[in-house]
Amino acid sequence: MRGISIGMDVADIDTPALCLDIEAVEANIKRMADYARDRSVRLRPHAKTHKSPALAHMQLEAGAVGITCAKLGEAEVMAAAGIKDILIANQIIGAPKIARLVNLAAYTRVMVAVDDAANVADLDAAAGVKGVRLRILIEVDIGMNRCGAAPGQPVLDLAREIVASPGLRFEGVMGYEGHTIFLEDVNERMERTEAAMQLLTDSAELLRREGIPVEIVSAGGTGTYFITGAHPGITELQVGSYITMDSQYGGLERIDFAYGLTLRASVISTRGDDLAITDAGLKAVTRDFGLPLAIDPPGWQLTALAEEHGFLSRTDGPRLRPGDKVTIVPNHGCTTINLHDNYCVIRRGVLEAVWPVAARGRTY
Ligand SMILES: Cc1ncc(COP(=O)(O)O)c(C=O)c1O
Repeated sequence: MRGISIGMDVADIDTPALCLDIEAVEANIKRMADYARDRSVRLRPHAKTHKSPALAHMQLEAGAVGITCAKLGEAEVMAAAGIKDILIANQIIGAPKIARLVNLAAYTRVMVAVDDAANVADLDAAAGVKGVRLRILIEVDIGMNRCGAAPGQPVLDLAREIVASPGLRFEGVMGYEGHTIFLEDVNERMERTEAAMQLLTDSAELLRREGIPVEIVSAGGTGTYFITGAHPGITELQVGSYITMDSQYGGLERIDFAYGLTLRASVISTRGDDLAITDAGLKAVTRDFGLPLAIDPPGWQLTALAEEHGFLSRTDGPRLRPGDKVTIVPNHGCTTINLHDNYCVIRRGVLEAVWPVAARGRTY
């Protein structure tokens, strides 16, 4: 990165800069790994949050069995960085991507989600040509109404297709409770997550009763990990956001991970004492769930984002002048991280390293 050198004070880093408080990140990694170990549930963190092989390796060192990716392109980046066990928790459709998938499977352990019989046939054919055996999970729609086969009989029908396909190895089922992760009422969150998990584990049981072994039953989001991870029959957690956290998850009851991700911005203009404009707008921080949280200096609130400008309003903070720095917690870490080339890795106020967001933009 231009204008920065290892060992410099965080206050001197030019802005906008995406920063990792590495001690908070380390604590979050350990906390989730300890939870999984105590519960005897395997951990396969979702790398779509951080998109960084360095962070993925830290999660593996702490005990994760592998990682999860959203996209084939992310998986390719992670595999190239030496990560050996990867779930792509999405459907890989169409000849060009299926060709890449079987190539990837030829040199690393990769597993992919399916919810459609025609896709199963395409994957089987491509695996046969390449001479690999592709590992498959069936994605089950457990209430989010996104991808996934309907629970019960449709899952069994699809599992039979997979088991009959010589190029494929059926590993199990996955689901994602995206409709419950942000529920503020913790009792409602627990009730609805339990119901979603029951759909998933009942489907797994149905397959077992029909003689189809189910090794993996994977689910979990940061807002629900303690519910999903404790549900009988769930074998793996595919949680993502906990590693960096964001202000959307920050206020949620029972979610006690630390803020590890901040955006540092500079004031570039002021209007009187109560309005300050920063150099970090929508191209530096996203607002898909809501506005980010200004935390330093205290007494200022982010009220709007334009393309290249952030608008701060004073509540009772100190007066800001052009050149002053502000610290913002992104409202959604996953989409904000994807806007940046690098992380500034900060330990106790000092720049320790610069890590590339290596899978940035890998939406394909
Ligand atoms: C399929 C799937 N699994 C797991 C996750 C991780 O969720 P979170 O970031 O809430 O931990 C996501 C997030 O979107 C997801 O889409």
